[in-house]
Amino acid sequence: MTMTDTDLLTQAAPAAARRAADLWLRRATQAWFCVAAIGQAAFIWMILAHYGRKTLAGDLAAWNDKPIIKGYVAGDALGNLQFAVHVLLAVVVTLGGLMQLVPVIRSRAPALHRWTGRVFFVTAFAMAMGGLWLTWGRPTYLSLVSAGLVSLNGFLILGFSVQAWRMAAMRRLAVHRRWALRAYLAVNGVWFLRVALMVWAPLTRGWGMDRTLSGPADIALQLCAYVLPLAVLELYLRAQDGVSPRAKHAVAGLLALATILTALGVVGAVVILWGPYML
Ligand code: HEM
Repeated sequence: MTMTDTDLLTQAAPAAARRAADLWLRRATQAWFCVAAIGQAAFIWMILAHYGRKTLAGDLAAWNDKPIIKGYVAGDALGNLQFAVHVLLAVVVTLGGLMQLVPVIRSRAPALHRWTGRVFFVTAFAMAMGGLWLTWGRPTYLSLVSAGLVSLNGFLILGFSVQAWRMAAMRRLAVHRRWALRAYLAVNGVWFLRVALMVWAPLTRGWGMDRTLSGPADIALQLCAYVLPLAVLELYLRAQDGVSPRAKHAVAGLLALATILTALGVVGAVVILWGPYML
């Protein structure tokens, strides 16, 4: 059986549409990642400029120049040490997560990718355990509901990191990639929360928020900080694996919206939350 020109054209059209949809999906993902990387770099900068500098100078009490719940507490050597380890490891885990997602590192320096991966997962695990201890052991929270919500984030980090590590050890690399992406988003839950607060608060003038992070908007934002990125990731993975150009375009549109919101939140976070402590 021979193919007519019309047959070839009808087959080429869907293939071209799929290629175009793949390109849109890739471009939207890259746009989101670039904006997120800038925002995460600003977060790292603030941590080094504020906590890093004060710690190196031995002026631990100055941690609290930035509004935090407890930070430095006179006489609480163990709590202060845990806090210092937690905030300084935040730099390692945030930078490590970013490096894992840079394609050129994965393809050109696979050994570096494997080592930063190990450091990322061990640090993420240690940070989630340390965060749980700070929350409940020290204790440090504004309200029980906010403590519960950040703890849920901590358990997700633990679960996703273990799964990603196991799958890498079993050489099931496609499944490993999925768990690693989930771990990356869960680890950035605290960063997403700050970004989300800086979108919501200025746009709504703080509707549904209170000083104990237990207003209806606070609760929704704390949950959304990890549930929403994880939900978008699941849609992205399905669209990427699927063949429907329509689904790929829809997820690309969602990622474009996420890019705009993330950019707004990053600008808000840099101007309002971190800027004063970045110099
Ligand atoms: C792994 C990702 C995490 C990162 C990057 C991170 C980062 C940070 C940073 C930068 C601070 C300093 C506060 C500030 O200046 O904003 C902090 C404090 C804190 N974090 Fe985390 N954190 C993470 C996970 C967690 C988890 C999962 C929990 C709870 C289960 C947690 C609980 C706390 C507590 C209780 C404080 C002390 C707040 C205070 O004393 O005011 N963190 N974290």
